[in-house]
Amino acid sequence: MKSALITGANKGIGFETARLLLRHGYHVYLGSRDLNAGLRAVDTLRAEGLTAVEAIQMDVSDSASVKAARIEVGQQTEVLDVLINNAGISGGMPQNALGASIEAFRQVFETNVFGVVRVTQAFIDLLQASPQPRIVNVSSSQGSLTLHTDPNYRYYHHKGAVYHPSKAALNMYTIDLAYELRDTAFKVNAVDPGFVATDFNNHRGTGTVEEAGARIAKYAMLDNDGPTGRFISEEYNPQTGEIPW
Ligand SMILES: NC(=O)c1ccc[n+]([C@@H]2O[C@H](COP(=O)([O-])OP(=O)(O)OC[C@H]3O[C@@H](n4cnc5c(N)ncnc54)[C@H](OP(=O)(O)O)[C@@H]3O)[C@@H](O)[C@H]2O)c1
Repeated sequence: MKSALITGANKGIGFETARLLLRHGYHVYLGSRDLNAGLRAVDTLRAEGLTAVEAIQMDVSDSASVKAARIEVGQQTEVLDVLINNAGISGGMPQNALGASIEAFRQVFETNVFGVVRVTQAFIDLLQASPQPRIVNVSSSQGSLTLHTDPNYRYYHHKGAVYHPSKAALNMYTIDLAYELRDTAFKVNAVDPGFVATDFNNHRGTGTVEEAGARIAKYAMLDNDGPTGRFISEEYNPQTGEIPW
């Protein structure tokens, strides 16, 4: 049975992705910074008959918490097939380039960027033990430098001076990570789930978590001939999934 660790999986897109991977027969380590929220999410899944799931307490912004989670997962498995770096925060909108505080940048980068680095580095040895390791970094179309410099882009005027740079930085980290792992069996991609209704945007999103979860799960379950080092948005381009960096 393949296994997957998903950060921030107690609700929203992460939770739905957990449900889908469970349905595909994966064993899921469901990351949650609040253990009780994680346990409640696990109860919901088990009540649906999806029993191969454990709650793992992990605050991605806290090195000690990530280290403890690595030890806990390591006591249950020597191999991890999938890592989905999903945990993320917006930092609240609107965000102005001239007005946003350094503290706001620190908080958002601590989770959206440094959290991904922390978790990836902590779990890489378990992933390296898998014959088909997959890493999905949950990004956003809002991290596209190309689109946000195009006045014709439909969200050109929807700037977010803190959140958007965090996803652009995550994208560049994804490129470097995929490059470093290029001669291995790893597939490493940045995937935009689309604008979907979750607590993240006070449920203003136009898509569903089911759609978003399917988009993420697809890149967690890539075949050996699947892409690596790519930025994918099936919302932006339903045909090819390609979105400009
Ligand atoms: N929704 C959208 O339209 C959209 C669009 C593009 C990209 N995304 C990305 O999709 C991902 C998931 O977002 P969502 O819409 O599902 O949001 P959500 O419903 O707010 O869920 C976010 C999840 O991340 C967790 N989290 C936040 N900070 C954390 C930390 N320091 N450590 C561990 N977990 C943490 C949250 O935990 P708590 O429950 O404890 O807060 C929650 O489980 C994010 O990376 C977001 O940037 C979302």
